[in-house]
Amino acid sequence: MSLNYKLIEHYYDVVVVGAGGAGLRAALGMAEKGLKTACISKVFPTRSHTVAAQGGISAALGNMGEDDWRFHMYDTVKGSDWLGDQDAIEYMCREAMAAVVELEHYGVPFSRTADGKIYQRAFGGMTTHYGKGQAQRTCAAADKTGHAILHTLYQQALKHKAEFFIEYIVLDLIMQDGECLGVLAWCLDDGSLHLFRAHVTVLATGGYGRSFFSCTSAHTVTGDGNAMVLRAGLPLQDMEFIQFHPTGIYGSGCLITEGVRGEGGYLTNSEGERFMERYAPHAKDLASRDVVSRAMTIEIQEGRGVGKLKDHIYLHIEHLDPALIHERLPGIAETSKIFAGVDITKDPIPVLPTVHYNMGGIPTNYKAEVVTLEGDNPDKVIVGLMAIGEAACVSVHGANRLGSNSLLDLVVFGRSAAIRCSELINIGSDHKPLAKTACDKALARFHRIRNATGKLKVSDIRLNMQKNMQAKASVFRTQSTLDEGIAAMINIKQSFEDVGIQDKSLIWNTDLVEALELDNLLGQASVAITAAGNRHESRGGHAREDYPDRDDENWMKHTLTWLIDDKITIDYRPVHLYTLSDDVEVIQPKERVY
Ligand code: FUM
Repeated sequence: MSLNYKLIEHYYDVVVVGAGGAGLRAALGMAEKGLKTACISKVFPTRSHTVAAQGGISAALGNMGEDDWRFHMYDTVKGSDWLGDQDAIEYMCREAMAAVVELEHYGVPFSRTADGKIYQRAFGGMTTHYGKGQAQRTCAAADKTGHAILHTLYQQALKHKAEFFIEYIVLDLIMQDGECLGVLAWCLDDGSLHLFRAHVTVLATGGYGRSFFSCTSAHTVTGDGNAMVLRAGLPLQDMEFIQFHPTGIYGSGCLITEGVRGEGGYLTNSEGERFMERYAPHAKDLASRDVVSRAMTIEIQEGRGVGKLKDHIYLHIEHLDPALIHERLPGIAETSKIFAGVDITKDPIPVLPTVHYNMGGIPTNYKAEVVTLEGDNPDKVIVGLMAIGEAACVSVHGANRLGSNSLLDLVVFGRSAAIRCSELINIGSDHKPLAKTACDKALARFHRIRNATGKLKVSDIRLNMQKNMQAKASVFRTQSTLDEGIAAMINIKQSFEDVGIQDKSLIWNTDLVEALELDNLLGQASVAITAAGNRHESRGGHAREDYPDRDDENWMKHTLTWLIDDKITIDYRPVHLYTLSDDVEVIQPKERVY
């Protein structure tokens, strides 16, 4: 191909794409094991979205009362509405205690109990004795746990000599004969293009929250790794499962941590009623997020919302001691003041369910290896490719993630990827020869978007997509709203053909960055809403008004979606209803009662 781009070549044992909690934990683990490791990030590592995680990281340490990792496993399977893979869930919950203690030893400044142990708070869906008691399992650094973890992991990664390529946009995977041999990236600072060769490429690129209008995600959360996987002809899994966090600030969508309710906060409607007592008599405000978000939406739909438009709900914390608020929740006190004008020691916070997390993503096993369905084999490993964190669908969260299981997922599977790479890679070994044309497709896409001369603005197409997803793939869904949304997404995606990029330069061209990110989001939004239209049941975060029940007989299976030549195809992988260890019993499906 005659595109005249000069490529600077790099050779590493491992390339990690993304420097959030998962990417940094993986990069430090790889470097610690002697693997030559590059970590490529589109933002400075400590600006990655993990920095926004507030409430904490789950682990059955039992510092604040009785706990057991088996209770944690039970809660996670139940929270997932039985779509989670139980081998992976066992792995995560068993490893949790060691993972948190390791973070403490790395230097994470956790809040402390009076006797010096890591402080743990209550979170939704976290119980003791298989649903009977309330667990305090979420280890917290005030309400800035993600911030504390991210900074600590970055320092550790530097200490172990992982090499960072910062403000580089990874454009695509370089695939050859079904294997991943590295990535192509664009350096914003000087406009150069880079070919990173790696024995294993690890995608730690986060979710795609920004496909929705109102979300708790940073503007950078555009699921770039997921989109690269789709372009490589590989499937994404369970994309219809999108989590709404019950308490985004009304208007801005900024996160107000579930830790507020864990510390004693509660929700009320326009009648001043603590309505969660009706929907979840036992767990009340600490039911799992899908349950609370649905209850809030019903209250608003039935006319019991608060405010002039009766379109949101109040979250109360003003009854708590201000000293406790300042010690344990200083961040949300500040956020509420800035974004809602509320002094939380005096008034309730106006909140609304807001898109927060993608349970779906790149299918992997618990060793972080990317898998796909091939013939009769639902677990075919893609050589050279791993995925971790929100980008991955391991699947430990199934149809609904429990709060504080995300930070845990990041560190446990980041570490697991490092362990697996050290087993697979012969340090410093030669790289497979690469065909001369290997980068052509990726370069052609980059060149085409860079030189696009259409009449539509990136921001207009993005807004169309976000509004469509928000309206048609919301907390409650029906076939007709989803079908309308699917049809609209086809047109919106096609409209990208008519996009125009004003700035043609290669240096800090944010117009082009946003266009590439939008292209990434469009593919993911399309497969997500199509998968939602295809799943005729309600499970976890996917609530169908026209199919209100969970249907284990027909739908206890993972959805796989491919997007090839603008055509979406769907198939399925079985849920892992088995555990890793003989002495751990499978948690059999039953009705979820809170
Ligand atoms: O509410 C929160 O603090 C969010 C935590 C999480 O999503 O795990």
